[in-house]
Amino acid sequence: MSDKIRILLTEEEVDQRINEIAAQVSRDYEGKSVHLICILKGGVFFTCELAKRIAVPVSLDFMSVSSYGADTKSSGVVKIIKDLDEPLTGKHVLIVEDIIDSGRTLSYLTEVLKQHGPEDIRICTLLDKPERRVKKQVKVDYTCFTIPDKFVVGYGLDYAQKYRNLPYIGVIEMEGSEEK
Ligand code: IMP
Ligand code: MG
Repeated sequence: MSDKIRILLTEEEVDQRINEIAAQVSRDYEGKSVHLICILKGGVFFTCELAKRIAVPVSLDFMSVSSYGADTKSSGVVKIIKDLDEPLTGKHVLIVEDIIDSGRTLSYLTEVLKQHGPEDIRICTLLDKPERRVKKQVKVDYTCFTIPDKFVVGYGLDYAQKYRNLPYIGVIEMEGSEEK
């Protein structure tokens, strides 16, 4: 059985938008360095593309958290699977996420990362599904695309670990189940 995937954002559209966001980041951090924290695994494709286009000095770290199992629904539990390697003291931190859905992951993460003494923390996301937000206090500084409440895959985003490598973003229409 294969899942049907309908293209929502083409590779060209994503590419073009990342250029714009990177230019904006480069302007906002002019004269400073930016410390990107990639949220694995979903954020990895976006982080690489973004990092390559940022004109100010960039350093990178990775963190892995889990709030979902193989299901498409949030369990509400955020667990740190892999913590940061580098200290954040005095750094200009930019968290890079694939998608903000309920906002639980980022609401938890920003609180945890603030304890590490960064100079400031901002959030950058490839996709935002504002209709689904539970944690309304999460402030997103850079959003590539605001999308409707559909389950999407590609460009790092998965469904049960599949489809992360699609070069575009698509809506998955699961066979035999109601589309979320
Ligand atoms: P939040 O804590 O509900 O904001 O969940 C954010 C995380 O849920 C993202 O980093 C994704 O890993 C996952 N997620 C949310 N919506 C989708 C989706 O449409 N496709 C794939 N993963 C999703
Ligand atoms: Mg994620």
